Amino acid sequence: MAAAGSYFSITALIILIQLATNLNSCSAATPIRHSGRNTRFIRTSCRTTLQPSLCFVTFSRYATRIGGSPRLLATTALSLAFNTTRFATKSMITLSKRHGLKRREAAALRVCVEELGDSIDELKDSIGKLSRHGAGGSTFRSQMSDIQTWVSAALTDDDTCMDGLSGKSINRKFRSRVRRRVVKVAHLTSIALAFVNRYAATHK
Ligand SMILES: *[C@@H]1O[C@H](CO)[C@@H](O)[C@H](O)[C@H]1NC(C)=O
Repeated sequence: MAAAGSYFSITALIILIQLATNLNSCSAATPIRHSGRNTRFIRTSCRTTLQPSLCFVTFSRYATRIGGSPRLLATTALSLAFNTTRFATKSMITLSKRHGLKRREAAALRVCVEELGDSIDELKDSIGKLSRHGAGGSTFRSQMSDIQTWVSAALTDDDTCMDGLSGKSINRKFRSRVRRRVVKVAHLTSIALAFVNRYAATHK
């Protein structure tokens, strides 16, 4: 009996040690577990977009900031689309000043700088309207409808820029270089639109 007793107590001790270890790793991992919920929100939201993996990779960085808020998700996505479009436009302006561009290439860049410039304005207006949400007297629905219109227009601008790059007389390397930037802009803008739509749907 004594042997059985010590056997059980050793087992109990091992279990206790394991429990304590688990508890320790639990408390150490608390912030991660908390952000796990936020990350899950990003993953679920990203599934509703056309670019789920790009979306998740991009937005999990902002998981803590966004928490579980569809509104902050939309705001962050708009801000990121705005920043990325601005950056792309700047790099196209730089590229357009380079010597040795063909006439068609320079013209395509001019179109892109103009279209993306419009897109920047539309995204900026959308961010402004979303941050003034509740003010100004107009209803949530009409505010969201304006934003949906503007972000859709921004997406069309990206497309128009892309169309201008498809001419045969445009150098392949040049085209893929510019296109890569615009594709990124268009993807982020389309994700922003999906999140704006999602947020709009929370208040039906
Ligand atoms: C966009 O750029 C501004 C200014 O640099 C920055 O404060 C903001 O955090 C950026 N937005 C995102 C979503 O990274």
